[in-house]
Amino acid sequence: MDGMNHSTVSEFVFLGLANSWEIQPLLFVFSFLFYLAGMMGNLVIVFTVTLDAHLHSPMYFFLANLSVIDMSFCSIIAPKMICDIFKKHKAISFCGCITQIFFSHAVGGAEMVLLISMAFDRYVAICKPLHYLSIMSPRKCLYFLVTSWTVGFIHSLVQLVFVVDLPFCGPNVLDSFYCDLPRLLRLACTDTQELEFMVTVNSGLISVGSFVLLVISYIFILFTVWKHSSLGSFKALSTLSAHITVVVLFFGPLMFFYTWPSPTSHLDKYLAVFDAFITPFLNPVIYTFRNKEMKVAMKRLCSHLGHYRKIS
Ligand SMILES: *[C@@H]1O[C@H](CO)[C@@H](O)[C@H](O)[C@H]1NC(C)=O
Repeated sequence: MDGMNHSTVSEFVFLGLANSWEIQPLLFVFSFLFYLAGMMGNLVIVFTVTLDAHLHSPMYFFLANLSVIDMSFCSIIAPKMICDIFKKHKAISFCGCITQIFFSHAVGGAEMVLLISMAFDRYVAICKPLHYLSIMSPRKCLYFLVTSWTVGFIHSLVQLVFVVDLPFCGPNVLDSFYCDLPRLLRLACTDTQELEFMVTVNSGLISVGSFVLLVISYIFILFTVWKHSSLGSFKALSTLSAHITVVVLFFGPLMFFYTWPSPTSHLDKYLAVFDAFITPFLNPVIYTFRNKEMKVAMKRLCSHLGHYRKIS
């Protein structure tokens, strides 16, 4: 086999989310609406935080960055899936597939590290309020941001280096709606057990590790709030509960993919919908509808816009 171009597979075929034809219009409407709403909601957050000087604090910078990540994440998977829904032959090229895997893991990894940075930000704000501005300096925020993207890209690159060289000699059907790394490995015409183990360790470690770190930091924060309970801690608790909801929704499905022993179940395919469509949509809902400062800023922004329109 060596010496010749041993990949005879030039494209992969998705089976999609559901096979029955009647359900496709419903699937189309739901995924389209969720994608659109997620993009709009996150765009509103980015604009509000960027344009409103009252929101120029680390917490909101992180929030806006999380929105950017969410928009990128759902744009890697959702548009392709939505375009494919009514096609009988849902194909993706080899390069397209590798690109999808690369960016979904890179952006996903960046999101995990960013969520940890956000937890750290809350820890400093709640447990060391007097030193908040000196600890979370703009330089430190930027450092967190660069770290999260770097970790994401390295995590993704490390896995893909081994995948691009795998021989694919025939089987090319993926029972999924996106290029899913564990499923792709099982199509290769060689023993991929070690590689599968490496992916489980790499992706499993980064997701379970981040999750455990986040849970510990939230328990620590909650404990501190509980010990010095005062009026201000109610506000802290409501912000925290928003963070915890996002974390559980984001990590739950991921940890299931990479650590569940029987990968043949269909459940992971449906759980992937959470990370591809629902979490990116829920983040703005959870953060903006429950956050007073954000709502006030959005009203202010709207009235400014109305004002400009009257002038011009
Ligand atoms: C992301 O975070 C950095 C560093 O805090 C900040 O300068 C930047 O404006 C943020 N990005 C957005 C879109 O708000």
